[in-house]
Amino acid sequence: MTNVDYRALQGSTVLVTGAAGFIGSHLVDRLLSLGARVVGVDNLSTGTDQNLAEARRHPEFVFVRADVNRFEEVAQIFSAHKIDYVFHYAAVVGVRIVIERPLEVFKDIDGIKFLLALAHAHRVKKFVFASSSEAYGEPVELPEREEGVLNVNADDPYGLTKLVGENMVRNYWRRFGLPGCSLRFFNVYGPRQNASAYGFVVGIFMKRALAGAPPVIFGDGKATRDFVFISDNVEAGVHALLADAANGKTFNIGSGRQTTINELAEKIAVLSGKPLVPVHEPERAIEVRYRCPDVTRMRELLAFEPQVPLDEGLRRTYDWFRIGHA
Ligand SMILES: NC(=O)c1ccc[n+]([C@@H]2O[C@H](COP(=O)([O-])OP(=O)(O)OC[C@H]3O[C@@H](n4cnc5c(N)ncnc54)[C@H](O)[C@@H]3O)[C@@H](O)[C@H]2O)c1
Repeated sequence: MTNVDYRALQGSTVLVTGAAGFIGSHLVDRLLSLGARVVGVDNLSTGTDQNLAEARRHPEFVFVRADVNRFEEVAQIFSAHKIDYVFHYAAVVGVRIVIERPLEVFKDIDGIKFLLALAHAHRVKKFVFASSSEAYGEPVELPEREEGVLNVNADDPYGLTKLVGENMVRNYWRRFGLPGCSLRFFNVYGPRQNASAYGFVVGIFMKRALAGAPPVIFGDGKATRDFVFISDNVEAGVHALLADAANGKTFNIGSGRQTTINELAEKIAVLSGKPLVPVHEPERAIEVRYRCPDVTRMRELLAFEPQVPLDEGLRRTYDWFRIGHA
């Protein structure tokens, strides 16, 4: 991995939306450690104040409780702070929320629109948008390429919202010169991950394992996902912020390796040291079968390569849940 020059961050002010969430809070901690001043914004819908415990001890951290889908609330933040960079990570997240409240997901298009307009008006130096592998829908080709054929039948509101967001980010760069890029995150896992039924597979399996309960697998468990440890995901975001070559582009952020849900369940059972035999339930309609990103563009333009192998990342995550976070 090539070294990036982090000096641009020193003394700069970075706005992070979704700051109290899983990924956002780790990003905040990393930016503060690199010498940035951070304005963290969150409505605390899924995020928690606890995730910001470390950041709150830092003199260069400011927290604003606000809803990014309300223009006045976001405009107020741009008036109060001279923002240099924006990470827009706030969103309605999680398969279960999307199934239960699909229309709420579309409201996030407002937030993306407002943040881009304000970033442009306030001459922000770079806008990084958290998109998702869900932008692909069920993949038409494997590995999934950023400029490959998209599934025109994809109709999951979350994936559609992310696609609209990516297009807006690209338009603001091409038409208005606002430097920006979008990151299609594949499955991110690690400490602070939501392990409730509204959360993600790694946290959910680990929480159950700690309670001695077997994992519940929707479908045959042969579906694949690409898992990326949180510190790698955060670092990819920082690289994207600092790379001029990223402007106007969308990037897959993944390891490039597929793991089946059965394999994941097995690894977690081994970590737990318990004989956990998975329980299979019918597949959920919204879920896709395969995820496998082509990560060439990430490697070449962001000069980034994930550093934490899956077994190591799972061990660190399990240890975190084990010390009372489940
Ligand atoms: N975790 C993953 O594996 C994954 C995969 C693909 C994409 N993403 C994207 O990464 C970003 C961060 O996800 P995460 O896993 O940390 O989820 P998260 O739910 O932990 O974080 C999202 C945060 O945004 C906040 N939020 C939601 N709506 C808001 C609003 N209208 N105004 C202000 N704050 C709001 C929530 O309270 C929460 O703290 C999201 O944009 C998500 O779509 C995550």
